[in-house]
This record gives sequence, structure tokens and C-alpha cells, in this order.
Amino acid sequence: MKKYKLPDLIYSYNSLEPVISEEIMQLHHRKHHAGYVKKANKALEVLDAGDYSNIKHVLRDLSFNLNGHKLHSVFWKSMRAPDESNSSSPKVKKKIEEKFKSFKRFKELFANTAKSVEGSGWAVLLGNERNDNFEIMQIENHNKLYLTNYKLLLALDVWEHAYYLDYKNDRNEYVDRWWNVVNWDEVEQKLI
Ligand SMILES: [Fe+2]
Repeated sequence: MKKYKLPDLIYSYNSLEPVISEEIMQLHHRKHHAGYVKKANKALEVLDAGDYSNIKHVLRDLSFNLNGHKLHSVFWKSMRAPDESNSSSPKVKKKIEEKFKSFKRFKELFANTAKSVEGSGWAVLLGNERNDNFEIMQIENHNKLYLTNYKLLLALDVWEHAYYLDYKNDRNEYVDRWWNVVNWDEVEQKLI
């Protein structure tokens, strides 16, 4: 039976410093994300074994952990070292300006979405396949408000485990500095 696997990062754990520390990246990837993968596989094992005795609980576990795995997989790829240029993404830039009027306004809207998550969650940029346009969304935990048939283009984790060691409870500072590590080329590639 196919199992989900923790993806390798395409950069080293200290690459995102000083925006995100090596310590956070190690814990986040090796403990948190690995935990979601493990629990998603465990829930699938129960289903594969045909054990429906606690189906509601198992499906809830699967929804939380599998979406956690998917979101984190996009999150890692949404970032790269802060000293790398972010200029080579003309298609994304154009589409963002069409949809949100200006890049500056998009960043404000996205950042406000991230900052206003109640408790644990995400801000994501989605590709709406219906009208070939962008949407900014908030996701609670890993799965509430999660939409299918939208392509995940960019994901920002605002769970406390993503920033607390570096920023304590100052999520706003984390979100504002996160723009320095966004990998726009990755978003660009997803549009092609
Ligand atoms: Fe996370």
C-alpha cells in the first residue's frame, strides 16, 4: 500500500535565517510535519484494514493530518533563502496586479489574512480553476474552510510552532518578515 512520505527540503535548515531560524525549521519539518505524515498513514491503515468501528474519528484524523501534510509540503516550497532574487516571476506579478490592483495591496491583504487567523491556521493564495484567477483564503487548523478544486500556489503557516521560538507571540512581525523568503518562482511555475 502506498504511504505518504515526509518530503526533503530543497534547501538546508539554516537557509531561511535570519527570517526563520534553523531550530524552528528542524523542529517544524522533522517533528511537526513528520508527525502529520505518520498520523495520516496510521489513519489510512485503519481504513485499509476495513475497520469502521470508529470511522468518524479516523476520518477526522485523516482530514487534519493529510491536509497538514499537503499544506506543509507547499509551505516549504513557498520559501527560499532571503538573498536570492525574487524578480523573475513576471506572470505572477501581472496576474496579481490584475486581480488585486497592485502588488503592494495584495501583500497587505494576504498579510492581514494571516495576521487575523484565530488560533492556529494558514493564509494561502489559491488558483481558482473556474475563472483562472487568484483568491486569498484563510484556513483554520489544517482543514476548516479548506477548498477542493483550487490549486495551492502559496502557503503561509501561522501556527505558533512556525514562529514562536523566533518571534514569541509577535505573529505580525513574523508575517511581515516572511515576504523576504517567498519563492515567487515556485508560484510562477505552478501557473505554467
Ligand atoms: Fe506547521
